[in-house]
Amino acid sequence: MKIYVIGGGAIGLLVSAYLKKKNNEVTLCTRTKAQADQLNQQGLTLIRNDQSELIPIHSVTLKQAKVEEADVCLFAVKSYDLGPIMKEITSKRKKDQSYLFLQNGMTHVELASKLPDLTIAFATVSHGAVRLNQTTVQHTGVGEVNWAMYQQRTNYLTDWLHTLPSSEFPVYEHDKWEELLWSKLLVNVCINPITALTGMKNGELLESTELKQFMKCVFDEAFLLHPLQPDKERHWSQVLSVCKQTAENTSSMLVDIKHKRQTEVDAILGYLLRRAKANGLSLPTISFLYQALINREQSYQL
Ligand code: PAF
Repeated sequence: MKIYVIGGGAIGLLVSAYLKKKNNEVTLCTRTKAQADQLNQQGLTLIRNDQSELIPIHSVTLKQAKVEEADVCLFAVKSYDLGPIMKEITSKRKKDQSYLFLQNGMTHVELASKLPDLTIAFATVSHGAVRLNQTTVQHTGVGEVNWAMYQQRTNYLTDWLHTLPSSEFPVYEHDKWEELLWSKLLVNVCINPITALTGMKNGELLESTELKQFMKCVFDEAFLLHPLQPDKERHWSQVLSVCKQTAENTSSMLVDIKHKRQTEVDAILGYLLRRAKANGLSLPTISFLYQALINREQSYQL
């Protein structure tokens, strides 16, 4: 099985490392030639529990990548980078190929819906990972990869995903992709914007009654749009428990703001606002957070 991992950020490096540890044939596709060259020369270093492991890896730039050779393309780029990358990759797609998406938010679902010929699965990743340099990733917290099939044209993607779990890298299958992605969306919409705007760590949100109430307003608005309307209390408890479990984490959106990078505001809040508009609903709290984040991103240029 030829696996192409698209994206040399923290999650791309982490996933590539664990796939290689399971003896998969991995090609890691990076944006820059400098990173691909360094990975080919130095290998990929995985740091976990203060121990470092050097993993040889084959890397190419996205432009050089012969993605038509891949059995599985695993997309580990931020949601806002996915559109242009997908354009390039889907133009080379072949019959029987499988795509696995790891993005936050929902814009990748919109993109996947235009590819009826492929086998596609969605996954959410809750591992803590920090890219220390172009070739080194630190696995800062063991989380989970949870996946669900979106559309199945061949069986091998499922069979391959079943080979991946290990104690250091747990992988779980789910029946319903909507349930899986919405659970993550609810967590992300409650935690990421508020931490990004206040500069707080995830756990600090629970220390203030007012912020917890504010977070609940965000949750209630987002939950209105859940297509399956599952048990609301269970999902709210899940948001609180992720906040607790990741208390010391800096959310991915706050990391983006700190580095003055684009955030996933569109894939998370923008998606909800578009859906609300289509359903004639108004989401005032989410609208406010959306605008505040857009303003923050625009202020980078000032
Ligand atoms: O985006 C993130 O940072 C993570 O999904 C989460 C769960 C909010 C923890 O920081």
